[in-house]
Amino acid sequence: MIEKADRLNNVKEYYFSKKLREVATLKNEGKPIINIGIGSPDLQPPSSVIDTIKSTVQLPYAHQYQSYQGIPEFRESISEFYKEKYNVTLNSNDEILPLMGSKEGIMHISLAFLNKGDKVLIPNPGYPTYTSVTKLVEAAPVYYSLNESNNWLPNFDEIEKKDLSKVKIMWVNYPHMPTGAVASKLDFEQLIAFGKKHNILVVNDNPYSFILNDNPQSILAVKGSREVAIELNSLSKTFNMAGWRVGMVVGDSEIIKTILQVKSNMDSGMFLGIQKGAITALKLSNNWFEKQNNIYKKRRRIVWDIFDALGCSYNNNSAGLFVWAKLPEGTNAEAFTDKLLHENNVFITPGTVFGSNGEGYIRASLCLSEEELIKVLNRLTTVKI
Ligand SMILES: Cc1ncc(COP(=O)(O)O)c(C=O)c1O
Repeated sequence: MIEKADRLNNVKEYYFSKKLREVATLKNEGKPIINIGIGSPDLQPPSSVIDTIKSTVQLPYAHQYQSYQGIPEFRESISEFYKEKYNVTLNSNDEILPLMGSKEGIMHISLAFLNKGDKVLIPNPGYPTYTSVTKLVEAAPVYYSLNESNNWLPNFDEIEKKDLSKVKIMWVNYPHMPTGAVASKLDFEQLIAFGKKHNILVVNDNPYSFILNDNPQSILAVKGSREVAIELNSLSKTFNMAGWRVGMVVGDSEIIKTILQVKSNMDSGMFLGIQKGAITALKLSNNWFEKQNNIYKKRRRIVWDIFDALGCSYNNNSAGLFVWAKLPEGTNAEAFTDKLLHENNVFITPGTVFGSNGEGYIRASLCLSEEELIKVLNRLTTVKI
């Protein structure tokens, strides 16, 4: 057997990949499992987007390699979107790089800026990919605590007690997954000031800003932010295009050029149909967001009822595709979710997937129909904690 690379020794298989195998096995055994754990949008992309990809497929030049930076028209549509939605001006020539989703960007940014032994500030709780990618590039995670008492925002006094000398990147993600916390302009200003003070690249991963959020924000709206901040964004949740794999990184042209140095060596441009479909999506009117959010609001109402039935508490003002809830005091999150899976045939995500500060919490997804959520609610009225 050929030995695997040492860099994999500290990287576990992605939790959901392992857990979904277990869920699939239970389903194959005939268990009627309902999965309210995973955030893959079940709603359809806009029909005009589907029409666009269909017609693009017919074009004779659609099947050739595409530019590494995406077609100019796609970058221009991203620039217009950022201006209209976040009041951020981006030069479409060199401040925008299309990506295959924001997840891909986490790897490219890390490869572009981190050397072995460098350190990376990562939120706890937070998206697990920040940690796994940091380890894959042989850098070291330094976790910063987010707590309910601080509205899941960074506590800079606490962070500054850590040794920050080798820290080069800070991952930030507002609206925050898994908690749904939002950051204000002032919070982003503090992050930029922190990045400048310690010479750290602050990367805001921003895929949730249009889901159940009245005031979408970009970290790049902060004056002077471009020296130290870039932003990842994505069409996965905003337009229900998770499987299309389309997103972007935006910011200072020199930083974007450095990321392109990595990306252009790893893939060969995005399929034209995806780029054209993305352009159609980015040009949609605000009706699209309203329609989506009305559906999510109704679903969230039922998820709150589910959490009430489980004796959990939650914040009614959170944003994003998930609801984060605190279990009754002293309840172990993984034991609780395993019990729900095996006794009630409901899979829900334990907060510990996102770090130690997720202990005592669970996360439900809004990517299920009202009918399915009501089924879950009916099953759970019998649960004993
Ligand atoms: C915080 C966060 N960042 C990034 C991603 C990846 O999104 P994309 O589909 O754009 O790669 C997710 C997806 O679940 C996420 O929750």
